[in-house]
Amino acid sequence: MSAPGWRPGDARADTGSMIRVDQAGEYGATRIYAGQLAVLGDRHPASRAIARMAAQERRHLDAFDQLMAERGIRPTLLQPVWNVAGHALGAVTALMGPDAAMACTAAVETEIDEHYSEQLRALGEDDPDLAATIAEFQAEEIEHRETAIAAGAENALGYPVLSAFIRAGCRAAIALSKRI
Ligand SMILES: [Fe+2]
Ligand SMILES: [Fe+2]
Repeated sequence: MSAPGWRPGDARADTGSMIRVDQAGEYGATRIYAGQLAVLGDRHPASRAIARMAAQERRHLDAFDQLMAERGIRPTLLQPVWNVAGHALGAVTALMGPDAAMACTAAVETEIDEHYSEQLRALGEDDPDLAATIAEFQAEEIEHRETAIAAGAENALGYPVLSAFIRAGCRAAIALSKRI
């Protein structure tokens, strides 16, 4: 699905696919944090920072849900997969410990930051409203990454491997959600 006025052959970015993958990503993020909070509970020292980030992800998700409704874009068919996979990733990393939970956030947000940069490049002057939304959320994702690093992400046992594994998973999820 494409922006109004688009004709085959036009160079215009496929904003329908962009919004679909972004909604999927923000949905996944809410599920990851929900999984972490399910394990850590609301008394753990890390929980406050996680709950604050989770609230921002909820806002991001609501914005993309609204854009999808306004523009008649269907969600990814993989939503049920991201529901389970996101929650599992959050729960497993939290079970490994708070540093691993933060390592998960740092890894995910690194990929999301790159993904949003790519989208902003692809949009160029097209769809300034969407570009402004993406830029605003990207700034918060960068903040999440910095929060996670400051909270000890890099102290997680096996950090390089864990980080590389999660980043590869994110890239795969992004590639799939663009198409399906
Ligand atoms: Fe987000
Ligand atoms: Fe985030």
